[in-house]
Order: sequence, then C-alpha cells, then structure tokens
Amino acid sequence: AYRKKVESIEFANQQMGGLENQASSSKAEFKFEDLAYNEKLRNPTKFDDTTSLVADDASSTEPTTIITTTTTPPTTTEEGISVFIRLRPINSSRGWVVLKEYNSVAQCTPSGVPLPERLFNRNFFTYDKTFGETSTTRQVYDGAARGIVQSVSDGLNGTIFAYGQTSSGKTFTMQGSGSVVRDAANSNSEHTEGIVHMAANDIFNHIEKESQRVFLVRVSFIEIYNEEVRDLLVTSGGGGGESNGATLTIREDKQRGFFVNSNETIVTSIVQLLEVFFAGEKNRHVGSTTMNERSSRSHTIFRITVESRLNNSMDGDSDDDDEDASEEEDDGDARMGAGHDVPQAGRNALIGLTDGNGAVRVSTLNLVDLAGSESVRHTGATGDRQKEGVNINLSLFTLSQVISQLGRGEAHINYRDSKLTRILQPSLSGNARMAVICCATPSDLYLEETRSTLQFASRAKLVKTRAQVNEVMDDRSLIRKLKRELKEARRGGPDKETMEMANANGAIEASIVDLETKLESVSKERDTAHSRVSELVSGNGNMEQIMQAVQSEKDDLASKLEEAKQKISMIEASKEELKGNLEAAIAEKDRIRAEMSKIESEQDAKLFELSEGMEEFKGRISALTS
Ligand SMILES: Nc1ncnc2c1ncn2[C@@H]1O[C@H](COP(=O)(O)OP(=O)(O)OP(=O)(O)O)[C@@H](O)[C@H]1O
Ligand SMILES: [Mg+2]
Repeated sequence: AYRKKVESIEFANQQMGGLENQASSSKAEFKFEDLAYNEKLRNPTKFDDTTSLVADDASSTEPTTIITTTTTPPTTTEEGISVFIRLRPINSSRGWVVLKEYNSVAQCTPSGVPLPERLFNRNFFTYDKTFGETSTTRQVYDGAARGIVQSVSDGLNGTIFAYGQTSSGKTFTMQGSGSVVRDAANSNSEHTEGIVHMAANDIFNHIEKESQRVFLVRVSFIEIYNEEVRDLLVTSGGGGGESNGATLTIREDKQRGFFVNSNETIVTSIVQLLEVFFAGEKNRHVGSTTMNERSSRSHTIFRITVESRLNNSMDGDSDDDDEDASEEEDDGDARMGAGHDVPQAGRNALIGLTDGNGAVRVSTLNLVDLAGSESVRHTGATGDRQKEGVNINLSLFTLSQVISQLGRGEAHINYRDSKLTRILQPSLSGNARMAVICCATPSDLYLEETRSTLQFASRAKLVKTRAQVNEVMDDRSLIRKLKRELKEARRGGPDKETMEMANANGAIEASIVDLETKLESVSKERDTAHSRVSELVSGNGNMEQIMQAVQSEKDDLASKLEEAKQKISMIEASKEELKGNLEAAIAEKDRIRAEMSKIESEQDAKLFELSEGMEEFKGRISALTS
C-alpha cells in the first residue's frame, strides 16, 4: 500500500513537472524575445554571477540538457573552491539542459529548450565547468581534478569531493564502475576508471619523472556511517559490510585541528594503491535502495599522503637541531603515525631517505565520496535504510550550512555539528585546494533535488581557501619519524638509556628501603635486649660486669647503625650524580651494592654475636636464678 502511495505521488509529481514545463516553455518563448537577454547569450563573458543562463541547441534531440561554461582553474594558492557539475545519463530524461559554451545549468522544456530561470526569480550561477550526460570521467578528471592532484605532488593539500543526491553518479565518478584493479591493457574491459585511478596514476607518474626529490606515499581510508567514524583498512573480522572497521574517535590538536588516527599503509605503486583502496571499499557500508542498487550508505574519505624531500641533501648521521627541538614538543602521541601499518619492507626502503636536514614536504589528497541525499518520497525507505538516510541528510545539511557560513565569511563555523564537517575542517578552513563535483540526475522527477544540488554548488563557489606548501620539521612526516627511530636505534636509543637509568635508580631505592627495614629490626632487637638487661640489672646487682660487656656490644651496634644511616644518605647523594652519567651511576650502583652487602653482613655478624652473647647471658641468668 505504501509503495502504491509513493508511486502515485511520483506520478503526480511527474504530471506536475510536465505541466510546469509546459507553462515554462511558453514563458520561455516570450522571454527569448528579450533583447538584453539575447545579448547575454551572445556575450557570455559579460554574464554576472546571478544571471547567466540558457540557450543553444534547441534542435538537440536530447531533451535534457545543462548549460555550461568553462574557465581555467586558478593557479594561485588563494582561490575559491572550484565547482563542477556532472549530469549522469538517464534513459528518459527531461528537465535540464547542457550548453557547451556556457558554464551554467538550466532547466529546459520537454523539447529541450532551456528556460530562462530569471522568470522564476531563481538565482542562477556559473560554475567552473559543467559536464553533460555524454561526458566521460576522464573529461571530468582532466577538467576538475588533474590540477589539484598535480599540486598535491608539489606539496599543496587537495580535497576533491563528489556531492549530489542518491544515484546521481558520485561513486561512479570517484571510483568508476567498481573493478578492483586498473586494467588499462584490456580495452574491451567493461570497467570504467574513476578519479581514484586517475589521481593515483598521475601521482606515481609524477614521482617517476621527478628526479630532484624522493617520495613516500601512504594511504588511509575511513567511512562515516550513522555518525560513527570507521577505519576501512582495518576489519574486525567476518568480512565486509556490517562487520567492518574499527571505530575511531575524532581528536583535536592546536596544530592540526580535528584528526583521526586511522591506519595508514605505505604504497609503492599504483596497483598497490588501488588494491588497498578496493580492499577498503569492500568494507564500506553499501545497501540497496529503490533508487540505487548499490547505494553508498556512508561518506568515505580516501586519503593519499605524499611526502617528499630533496634527494641531494643526504648528509649521513649529522644531527638535526630543529628536529630535536620539535621532538621535545612531541607529546608522545604519535599523531599521524599512530597505528600506522608500516610494512617492514617499506621501512627498509625508506632508510635511505631518512638522513639529512632538508625539510620534508607533506601534502594530502582527500578523495571524498559522499553518501547521497535522499528523500523518503523517492526511496520509500524504512527501518535501517531510513535511519541511514536521516543521518546522511543531517550531515549533508551541516556540510551545506558550513559551506554557507564559510562563503559568507562568518566568524563562527559549525564544524562540530557533524563528523563529516569535523573531519573535513582542516581542508574547509583553508589549507587546501578544493574541488566539488556536484552530480545530478537530469530528470524532471528530481527537479527539487537537482535545484538543491545546484544551490549547494553555488554556495560552495563563494568559499575561499588558501593552500600552502607544507614543509614540516616534526613527526607529522613519516620520513622524519622513521629517521628519528633509526637514529635512536643506532645509538641504543634515548628510551633505553632512560629505562636503564630508571631501573638503576629503582634498584637503589629498593635496596635503601630494604636496608632501612633491616636497620629498624636491628634497632628493635637492641631495644628489647636493652630492656631485658635493665630488668635483670634491677633484679640482680651482681651482674654489673656482664652488663657492661653487653652495653659495649650495644654501643658498637649503635655506631654501626649510625654508619649505615650515613651510607644511606651517601646513596641518596649518589643517586643525583647518576642522572649525569649512566656509566658512573652503574659503577656507583655496584659499589653501593657491595657496600650495602658488606654492611649487611657486618650487621648479620654483629647480630649473631649479640644473640650469642644473649644466649650466654640467658644461660648465666638461668644458672644464677636456679
Ligand atoms: N556517468 C555515468 N555513466 C554511466 N553510468 C553511470 C554514470 N553515473 C552513474 N552511473 C550509474 O548509475 C548508478 C548509480 O550511480 P552511483 O552509485 O555512482 O550513484 P551515487 O551518487 O554514488 O549514489 P548514492 O548516493 O546512493 O551512493 C550506478 O549503476 C552507476 O554505474
Ligand atoms: Mg555512492
């Protein structure tokens, strides 16, 4: 019954769309008479941000089109987010048109005539480029992503994300049609490459060509599912889907903003990178909905980190003051490094890179495939799917809010309102070149969804970022971290030293405590002996001589006690010296130990003598008293 209801609503929507288009088309014809408007059409460069639009091939056999104009992405480091529109092909499509000469998107009549949006009082915006239904991902990559990928190889951060309603082609754009490994040789393959393949290809080609620098590439892959962040490169057993990755916490530090300590894997070739990517992709939450058989139910962020340094700055073992300074600031939390899965072979291969003082460039490319917004009206979702849908829509809403706030230059930005915006905060807040590829399904069934996507795209165009080359001197660079570890390993490691020092101190401390306990019990025995002797003395005046002997023993013992106490303070003093010189400390420790055992054996001997004296004393007393 519910499905029927949805169908009838959809049918009604279709009818309404048709009527709306009919009404629009007559208005459009009228508006095409508008001279100023036609002037704009002839002269697209004069278009301002809010009025560009329309026209071209009314003769097009494809009724659904979009108006597009092209600009070259800026090459400066301060720039707006680049925004692109991609329309996916659909069989029966009406509603939107593409015109190659203009960078705009327009609604069209059923016969493919673009509607002048001004008539509906809607703002219309130009984008950096729009890609029509027949465009290929290669064209999208070349127009939208290539420049950013290139600058990631050169040390700037980049973020590319696909936005749009469910089933509009985001995953298709980002990862292609889903084959695991690149199959360039097989041209008959049905497989379509995505931006991930092309970016990986460009990065590794760049590395191969660049002889001045040495590189290290590592990747991580996370998803945000129902407001939980999961590591797709770590499976918690039982295969993909519902049992996927470990849950991660988002943390914050002053330097980096929000971050997660996700697992990272070093990759040394494009094939290896893609294998890691698709292994992670298997763990992603995907579900079937009425609108998309393989609908992404989570947002994913695949991060490629590229580190590089000049390869002519090898300088053997020389110490690096700057680096040591930052090591001291290191809070011990391995930041980017925590939980890194660094294969041993990768480590060894890197050792050659780890010497030298040159700064290391670290840049990241985030490839973000969002889950699509969806209306229950179209998906008819219930239960889990509905819950997912609600979470997806909520986080996309926050993203859109954050984008608006950034575009308006507001002081407070709601990054904290969703995991997605928290994780994207370092990119959104400035230090990254960014491209948004807004995908849309050009059907009049989805007029509202497409309009909302286009509005999001327009707002994104207002956001400015300022990417800069990141040359780092601390552990955010894995090369540097490994270098430090290597250095530590070579000299036995400061940790080992500290440990030994701590052990030595601990042992001395324990010995002192032990010695003090022994002294205490000796003192007690002495006191007991003393009081027993006093008792006896008061009971028998003839014992004076014996008493004197016992007393001298007692005095002797007391002076030994005093001596032992002095030794303790000497040990305390020598503990301080230990800090300066471990070798001396160890020797001192041995000396002290020997000293202590001497004292101990002396004490033992004295105690033995004393107890013998006591026995003899007791014997005499019993002889006297019997
Ligand atoms: N440009 C295109 N050319 C050919 N097929 C496409 C294109 N774009 C999308 N498709 C196909 O449309 C279907 C839906 O696309 P896709 O899964 O990429 O959508 P999505 O935007 O990721 O949706 P969701 O938000 O539900 O994950 C897939 O079968 C995909 O192969
Ligand atoms: Mg998807």
